[in-house]
Amino acid sequence: MEGINLNQIGVSFKGSGSYVPNQILTNEEISKKVDTSDEWISSRTGISQRRISGVSENVSEMGFKAAFAAIEMAKWDIETIDLIILATSTPNDLFGSAPCIQAKLGANNAVAFDLTAACSGFLFAVITASQFLKAGSYKRAVVIGSDQLSSYVDWNDRKSCILFGDGAGAIAIEATNELDNLIGFTMRTDGQRGSFLNLPSQNNQDLIIDNINYSSGGFSTIEMNGQEVYKFAVREVPLIIANLFKKTNFNSEKINWLLLHQANQRILDSVGDRLNFSSEKILSNLSNYGNTSAATIPLMLDEAIRNKKIKENDIIATSGFGAGLSWGAALIRWG
Ligand code: UT7
Repeated sequence: MEGINLNQIGVSFKGSGSYVPNQILTNEEISKKVDTSDEWISSRTGISQRRISGVSENVSEMGFKAAFAAIEMAKWDIETIDLIILATSTPNDLFGSAPCIQAKLGANNAVAFDLTAACSGFLFAVITASQFLKAGSYKRAVVIGSDQLSSYVDWNDRKSCILFGDGAGAIAIEATNELDNLIGFTMRTDGQRGSFLNLPSQNNQDLIIDNINYSSGGFSTIEMNGQEVYKFAVREVPLIIANLFKKTNFNSEKINWLLLHQANQRILDSVGDRLNFSSEKILSNLSNYGNTSAATIPLMLDEAIRNKKIKENDIIATSGFGAGLSWGAALIRWG
């Protein structure tokens, strides 16, 4: 599914917010648990530390705090919000965690639902929400990316446990009859390569009665072929962004910021190189938070907006990529 908006109705971006848990887990501390080192993790990934949710925190609690901050920045009356989409792969309720955020916010007029597309989830959710707004169905939407991967990491697997952390980010999007600030987008899925990164269900078989069996629900831990995911990212992400540039008549010189899913600093640098972005334009906060899945893009976005790096009308090329495999790109004008 892809589209470049030529309609009269567009969207504008009104606010951002984020939240990270207080607990900090450093590389030094991880190397007490598995056979690794700060030097190995920093040089191979760019990550120094990550945040870990406490036992009383969960995806909707973190998502609520991020959404609240975004709504405050937008100066919206809570009652005027029509739509809440929560991108997450680690819901605290498999029936949906977005309704819990809706209730905490008191956003009584909003329909709220979850969307799962792993690390592409936030981008896919922004594009999904924008379609409702551009179609004229709704006026105001809050899109949240919140993930608690620490609950599903195998903390004995040094090949994956070093990468992930917890957090949430959100943005407030509004329909407008003026300039469309979602300039263009592309979304892709390749289920054939899905086995490179999974968080599969793990079922126990049992009998309900003598001749009726069933599987009880549950999940395993994250299974990742790091090298294959790395190769996928450095090949597909530059291609999808270059394609979008071609369709929208943009190039790296016309773009203020490259905002990629924060997976690995080497991926960010390689994609930036291939697209001719100077390093100052590549946004990164990986060092502090690691890979927070659906939360990385809004977490980085909010940080750059609040420290006044990203300014009104700046053009951002953004791309999410990960499990599915799924990936996508969008060109956004902030404001
Ligand atoms: O949202 C998407 C999520 N996933 C990703 O973004 C993953 C993308 N992939 C990556 O970021 C990288 O592939 C990793 C950081 C996961 C791994 O880096 P790499 O440079 O691809 O390492 P490797 O898997 O090729 O392993 C090289 C060596 C191996 O040892 P041998 O076989 O050469 O003796 C590993 O056993 O490094 C070893 N190794 C480690 N050593 C110390 C793997 N993990 C560690 C570790 N500490 N944590």
